Amino acid sequence: MKNAPPKATLLEDYRPLPFKINTIHLTFELDDKETLVTAVSQIERERSAPGEPLKLNGERLKLVSLEIDGRALDESDYSYDERFLMIHETPESFELTIKTEINPSANTTLEGLYKSGTIFCTQNEPEGFRRITYFLDRPDIMSVYTTTIIADKNLYPILLSNGNKVESGDLEDGRHWVKWNDPFPKPSYLYALVAGDLGEIRDTFRTISGRDIDLHIFCDKGNESKCEFAMNALKKSMKWDEEVYGLEYDLDIFMIVAVDAFNFGAMENKGLNIFNTSCVLADKSTATDDNFYRVEGVVAHEYFHNWTGNRVTCRDWFQLTLKEGLTVFRDQEFSADMNSRAVKRIEDVESLRAAQFAEDAGPTAHPIKPKSYIEINNFYTATIYDKGAEVIRMIHTMLGKENFRKGIDKYFELYDGQAVTTEDFIHAMEQASGVDLKPFTKWYHQSGTPELDVSYQYDSAKQSLKVDLIQKNPSTADEQEKHPLVFPLACGILSSEGSSITPNVEGARKNGDTVILPVSKESQTFVFENVSSRPTLSVNRGFSAPIKVHVRYEHKDLMFLMAHDHDEFNRWDASQELGIRLMLESLQDQSMKVSEDYLEAYGKVLKNKMLDPGLKALCLTLPTEGTLGQRQSIIDFDGNHHVRETYLSRIATHYQNDFIDLYEELSSNVNYQIDPESIGKRSLRKLCLKYIAQTEKKEALDLCLESFKTASNMTDQYGALRILADYDCEQRKEALEQFYQQWKGEQLVMCKWLTAQASSKAKGALDKTEELTKDVIYDQKIPNLVRALFGGFMQNHVQFHDSKGAGYAFIVEQISELDKINPHVSARLATGFRKFGQLDSNRRDMLRKELDVLLSKPDISPHLYEIVSKCVK
Ligand code: TRP
Ligand code: ZN
Repeated sequence: MKNAPPKATLLEDYRPLPFKINTIHLTFELDDKETLVTAVSQIERERSAPGEPLKLNGERLKLVSLEIDGRALDESDYSYDERFLMIHETPESFELTIKTEINPSANTTLEGLYKSGTIFCTQNEPEGFRRITYFLDRPDIMSVYTTTIIADKNLYPILLSNGNKVESGDLEDGRHWVKWNDPFPKPSYLYALVAGDLGEIRDTFRTISGRDIDLHIFCDKGNESKCEFAMNALKKSMKWDEEVYGLEYDLDIFMIVAVDAFNFGAMENKGLNIFNTSCVLADKSTATDDNFYRVEGVVAHEYFHNWTGNRVTCRDWFQLTLKEGLTVFRDQEFSADMNSRAVKRIEDVESLRAAQFAEDAGPTAHPIKPKSYIEINNFYTATIYDKGAEVIRMIHTMLGKENFRKGIDKYFELYDGQAVTTEDFIHAMEQASGVDLKPFTKWYHQSGTPELDVSYQYDSAKQSLKVDLIQKNPSTADEQEKHPLVFPLACGILSSEGSSITPNVEGARKNGDTVILPVSKESQTFVFENVSSRPTLSVNRGFSAPIKVHVRYEHKDLMFLMAHDHDEFNRWDASQELGIRLMLESLQDQSMKVSEDYLEAYGKVLKNKMLDPGLKALCLTLPTEGTLGQRQSIIDFDGNHHVRETYLSRIATHYQNDFIDLYEELSSNVNYQIDPESIGKRSLRKLCLKYIAQTEKKEALDLCLESFKTASNMTDQYGALRILADYDCEQRKEALEQFYQQWKGEQLVMCKWLTAQASSKAKGALDKTEELTKDVIYDQKIPNLVRALFGGFMQNHVQFHDSKGAGYAFIVEQISELDKINPHVSARLATGFRKFGQLDSNRRDMLRKELDVLLSKPDISPHLYEIVSKCVK
């Protein structure tokens, strides 16, 4: 029996509500199993809506009592079911008092009020607040919140909510209470509460206007020192937002709380951000450089939401990219300013291509502003976030920095304190810049990745370069018909010696030695004037548009760009494109031969002393098996693995001495520091170690083990562990065991230990993954551990997509089980099935059988149903 698909919500159905809630006072009497919530709201009916009933959202609530203006309601005055509470008649303006009872310790979905270990905390975005009390739980209902928290003083000495602490006191029964008030009206999704016996660090930040803000980071006791890095990141973010956008913090206190059990990275609740521990805690012995970058980026992201998200919020959830795309763009730019801009851009584009391009190419394709959804939680996607950020970046590129800033100023001038739409954002940008963005806005409504064919011809007589562009927009799973899009295409030209030629193109904006071509049509030609010799064209510099570019380069052109392009991003991109092409060609002709030319080009980068080490490491990293798979209509999992391993081994053997020399040079007396240069050196050192290990010689694996044992920090230690974990050897066993003994008390480090084994290329990863679910450090209620283990295994292309189907059967069973605990986690893992359409018929049949069983389970969550049903369609 198939389940009936749950009902969709449509953008076109948006209507303002007939009521507004001006203020709400919440009182919590905290208890693990029976928390009593009293909500007293001042509600007004809109003049335009006489006689409408009041229909409040509510889920998993036990209704205790209901009063209007102090009078208990009669049972005939209201009705309720699993989703709504309906009050049939109300006055124009009234006070509504609702008492509900909730069970935080039974709440494993981690939305609403729940317990993470011993800590009470909340997660209300997007629709968690309705699990706390009956409410108009949508972002266009903005209210002033007051909170009184009552709890046992010993167990919960720290009681937090949004805004400012206004009063507190003790009760006679060993309980105490604290009252908080947030003066800024906000939607319910930004509401937060935390209670616990927490460790804490404090600091202050003096704002540009001279106000002192109290900063607090709370965590499990014992982890305080791991919060210092996040505190610094917070202060840097506050300063950056003042300098770059003129935005000053508005409350007198800003708090961050770190919890273990959390569905996503972090949440921007007003004045009280709640974070996954993975995005706060970091010190050199437990966190890698990647972790440090992530902490810095997420702290900034949540802080920046205070203006782009909280002060100006979303009218409805179709507008999600309004706050997320813009805030991701802001955090990316912050990180670029704090670290290496080129490395940051490359990493962001790598993940955009791996996650978002894949999403657009698969069964869950959707525009950054969808027209409908079944489960809004499934729309916190790479498309809404990362493609959304690219759309903002294109506006920034087209308008230029100054006009963009004027547009942001205008946005706050017009909409501060309101819940608005993406059209409102565009309106502000147009007003401030005078640029007509109407044609550009198609990006908001059209899904799919545009493809651009580029060809160019040099005319030596006219000394000009003619560039022909053909734009194609392939249809996607959600939409057949597409239209050409408008985007800025940053290009440059290089002379045959590799020097930059300043281009001159009519109708195009210039930026240094780069010109921004305004692309808008299916077919377009641009002519570069005054080009004195036959050049090489560098296209889409800095990834100015989120598209796939096809230039008819020969291998030698890519090698030339790899060596000479003045744009660092494109230098890296050329190295990747060349690697992809060669590996796919070797796979096709079955030769598995690595060309001498390629080895030479690779060696030039390896030996280039001028190149920034971080950038060098990125250029020398071979494209992943996943990247190769993206270029195939039917993915050849085994072939991709085999050809990549062949290339790794060939390069490793050919340059063994160089890798050893460079490794030693990078190992000599370095003090551990966290700055882009040191981080770049560590990643290059790790790359060398990888190529040394790839020979699988005893002395190579011994060196790897020694590197593991003598590491002074987690970047080096985990780097060596990940490398060893891929080879079936004694050294691997020893390292994994030592790592476990050393770090079994640290959950975040254990996540790494799980991933290293589940994603290992060595055979037996499936059995190992299954075995690890029984380890004492594993807990299926902690999303970080689940993702580390099963997410790690699903990255293991060869073994997850095992041709006998054992990987599919195992993961489907796990997902089915997890779905009962936490549908956010199960649905997210299931996005790993979106390669369904690219599987060969054998794999597709096996997976379809498994997924059909899953879909027919009577208790499958709507979250999981939506994803899986799209995958098998
Ligand atoms: N708004 C959060 C952010 O982008 C994302 C988020 C955190 C979230 N927790 C969530 C989204 C739970 C959905 C559900 O920073
Ligand atoms: Zn966000």
